[in-house]
Amino acid sequence: MDIQTTLLVDGEKRTLALDTRTTLLDALRDRLGVTSPKKGCDHGQCGACTVLLEGRRVNSCLVLAVAQDGAEVVTAEGLGKGTALHPVQEAFLARDAFQCGYCTPGQVCSAVGMLREAAAGNPSHVTADLNAPVALNDAEIRERMSGNLCRCGAYVNIVSAIRDVAAEQAAGGGAGTASPRTAGASS
Ligand code: FES
Ligand code: FES
Repeated sequence: MDIQTTLLVDGEKRTLALDTRTTLLDALRDRLGVTSPKKGCDHGQCGACTVLLEGRRVNSCLVLAVAQDGAEVVTAEGLGKGTALHPVQEAFLARDAFQCGYCTPGQVCSAVGMLREAAAGNPSHVTADLNAPVALNDAEIRERMSGNLCRCGAYVNIVSAIRDVAAEQAAGGGAGTASPRTAGASS
């Protein structure tokens, strides 16, 4: 059975008839042509399909699209503004935090999500003091990014990139906004 579903994808309203069993990942990639979310495992184990759904990171392979009617979806393609990359994307480039790049869109979306979660004070499994503001040290970054696998082993540089953005945020920088640079590295 098909159901009419509307999603706001990377700022654009998209309406389509979807089989109720269609995952958000398949709707994005196969029906809407949004290919930055990657299909790695299709089982919620690799994080390559991570997008921001209503501002929170999710594995889009585990979400049924029709259940998200009216929701906002942001992929790595929609994080920047025009030709300006998001600061997390800038940091990934500056730190050379990818090799094949297959996991990178999911890593970037997940990093944006976890930076927001930490800024909101959400603890992780390794947070020692639940009453203090979250300090994004390497252990925190690794734990919070542990749902995203990189077969190339770019982890060290991914941690460095996220540490850079966390430091910018802590210093009061505009890490939630895009910075000027030619876009194009996220798909
Ligand atoms: S494809 Fe969704 S977590 Fe691997
Ligand atoms: S850069 Fe290749 S899988 Fe991560």
